[in-house]
Amino acid sequence: MSFKTLDDIGDVSGKAVLVREDLNVPMADGKVTDDTRLRATVATLTELADKGAKVLVLAHFGRPKGERSEANSLAQIVPSLSDVLGRPVAFIDDCAGEAAEAAVAALPAGAIAVLENTRFHKGEEKNDPALVAAIAKLGAAYVNDAFSAAHRAHASTEGLARVLPAYAGRAMEAELTALEKALGQPERPVAAVVGGAKVSTKLDVLKHLVSKVDHLIIGGGMANTFLAARGVDVGKSLCEHDLTGTAEEILDNADKAGCTVHLPYDVVVSKEFAANPASLRTCNVHEVAADEMILDVGPQAVEALGDVLKTCKTLVWNGPMGAFEIEPFDAATVALARTAAALTKEGSLISVAGGGDTVAALNHAGAAGDFSYISTAGGAFLEWMEGKELPGVAALG
Ligand code: 3PG
Repeated sequence: MSFKTLDDIGDVSGKAVLVREDLNVPMADGKVTDDTRLRATVATLTELADKGAKVLVLAHFGRPKGERSEANSLAQIVPSLSDVLGRPVAFIDDCAGEAAEAAVAALPAGAIAVLENTRFHKGEEKNDPALVAAIAKLGAAYVNDAFSAAHRAHASTEGLARVLPAYAGRAMEAELTALEKALGQPERPVAAVVGGAKVSTKLDVLKHLVSKVDHLIIGGGMANTFLAARGVDVGKSLCEHDLTGTAEEILDNADKAGCTVHLPYDVVVSKEFAANPASLRTCNVHEVAADEMILDVGPQAVEALGDVLKTCKTLVWNGPMGAFEIEPFDAATVALARTAAALTKEGSLISVAGGGDTVAALNHAGAAGDFSYISTAGGAFLEWMEGKELPGVAALG
């Protein structure tokens, strides 16, 4: 898909530019606990400010459903954003209306200001044209730099792109370029690793991937549902027995599409879900006892999966292979992530990962730094893996 970037924006000196960022960061006791999303804003915000624009940052924080509240105010993010940017950041306590217009008019060229939570307006989530017009009055151009909010068709993520000259910011540009390389026009063979607890949360991802990739590696609790569909007795393991029919269908479709589905053939089991339990053992999937739970993929399967990755040119990864928060059930995730990182480092694999627990799992493995691209998006990454068009991205085209 083609879209305009900051290279196309022209002279912005003295002009107000509205930039949609994702400032929806985790906080505890009034402090930002992970500033990854703040760091992702730096390239776009500093580039525009250095070109003399009045940079107006639009963002949501939490889900306040059209009501103003201190708990959801973006004012509390401003000091952390200012630290990350290494320059002052102003705050304007509305994203539309006369007071906001006056505050924008008073900003000097080159200033960066965060506008209050777009979701304090009911029109934001409804993509209300009246709110879109009111926000659009503040700026001469619109930049969307928030891939992780692009699955929402809201006023600040979609509507504005329809009424103002619209551009992808640097973080959005990097994300779209990486994703295009991973599933759009990938170098083949392509492997996908999909893990996580439940099949039900990733049905659409799995259905889409079997038609796109050459190897689908299924791990985590969701692999148990597929094993059960193949007639394996998974004992007390987490398993969505009501979805074994759907799992069978996915396996059939994979067969028809020439996609090889890899399920574990050895597994790490235990009678209790605790760190290093006494009942820990590794066995063939056909030897799981009635009172045991599968909690990780076994070492032989991990080695074989590493060999699969060695034959591939592209990898997309979402979700852990086992219950990685508790040792030793992190072993498969750590080993496979390190293999993928090593292959990426030596130049034989393009590796893209994202969504929910994935970044935490790859960080835990010490592998995230060597992946080609790590997306900070949660829901948007999953919708992209489902093959859906993201409204915020489509509006830039
Ligand atoms: C996220 O945190 O994934 C994005 O900011 C989107 O937030 P939302 O799910 O509340 O729309």
